[in-house]
Amino acid sequence: MSNILDASLAPSGIKKIEWVRSHMSALSQIEKKFEKEQPFKGLRVAVSIHLEAKTANLALVLAKGGAQVFLTGSNPLTTQDDVAAAVASMGVETFARYGVSPSEYEQLLAQTLECHPHLIVDDGGDLVSLLCGDCAGYADELFGGCEETTTGILRLKARERDGLLPCAMMAVNDAKAKHYYDNKYGTGQSVWTAIMDTTNLITAGKTVVVAGYGWCGKGVAMRAKGLGANVIITEIDPFKALDATMDGFRIMKMDDAAKIGDIFVTVTGCKDVIVSRHFETMKDNAILCNAGHFDCEVNVAQLKEMAVSVGERRKNIVGYTLKNGKTLNVLGEGRLVNLACGMGHPAEIMDMSFAVQALALRWLVDHKDGLEKKLYQIPDSIDDEIGWHKLAAMGMEIDRLTPEQEAYLNGWG
Ligand code: ADE
Repeated sequence: MSNILDASLAPSGIKKIEWVRSHMSALSQIEKKFEKEQPFKGLRVAVSIHLEAKTANLALVLAKGGAQVFLTGSNPLTTQDDVAAAVASMGVETFARYGVSPSEYEQLLAQTLECHPHLIVDDGGDLVSLLCGDCAGYADELFGGCEETTTGILRLKARERDGLLPCAMMAVNDAKAKHYYDNKYGTGQSVWTAIMDTTNLITAGKTVVVAGYGWCGKGVAMRAKGLGANVIITEIDPFKALDATMDGFRIMKMDDAAKIGDIFVTVTGCKDVIVSRHFETMKDNAILCNAGHFDCEVNVAQLKEMAVSVGERRKNIVGYTLKNGKTLNVLGEGRLVNLACGMGHPAEIMDMSFAVQALALRWLVDHKDGLEKKLYQIPDSIDDEIGWHKLAAMGMEIDRLTPEQEAYLNGWG
């Protein structure tokens, strides 16, 4: 039933999965518990997450817990076909291929939902959109879901406001064990790994413009500084802008930054952050990429229209030459650079994020009877379990409150 590119690619994908599994200790511990307790027995779980090795591991852990897992990607350019083949060969129904068109991508998601899921794991809100639209007929047994990203949660909040949620949804992104690490350190590392591997250029001494100073933007800026870049931040929120200033970065409008940047990274979650008036003033050979969930931050369609010639310059780099003779280089078609041109976040980071996913799904099962169609925050008990596990896994111990200290902190004064 799976819909993948080529089953014979499985051996390379299996190696990738085995490697990350040996670095995802929180998930391994959860897997052991799930195997014994079978919390998802008899349940169908549809998962839409960038399909790479760490995601495959999450799917396998849920399957060990008794779930029938139906897996798809979360972007037309981020599926790794060998991993898709591998996870399909391990019994997970998989509907994902690299390089599909937007409509083929949506078809793969719809095929995944044909299982009539009880639970969903979404990344950016595409499954929820389909379940509220063309695939509403598949939501008849749906009772809960989890959302991975900041962007997806924004969409869920808008749906909740308008009474349009298809089921109870857990805000996985908002867990401490997720956004403090995944958004900041995961994005910080994986974005620069992808940019440097893709371009084979140096970052030190360059002027890097980071658009957006949320958790992801902070990580991208911090690592750029560490690599020796001169970092400029653009923002629309005065407090985030002040934060960036006090972290030692220059703040300016994109109109001004466009003229001096060598490398641009958008991480705002908003659209049209870099548009034609910016392209016109950019330096020759500027590099543009995006690390936000959707490919609407750098307006590549406008750039294409303005270009007098367009051509691939290197794998995952398209050069757009403008009338003024300058060439602007777009990485990964303006899609998530760390996944479209790289391997995604490090395994130890996705371990924490996916541990939240696994425990949040279990929470939904345990609380099934009282659930409402609203957005739920991750309980502190889940965050704490992962935090303590991770500390122990890294060989660290920390102080604990004495009963007297606890009483002092909880008292009136
Ligand atoms: N691997 C799987 N999902 C990912 C994400 N959202 N970001 C980076 N790496 C990932």
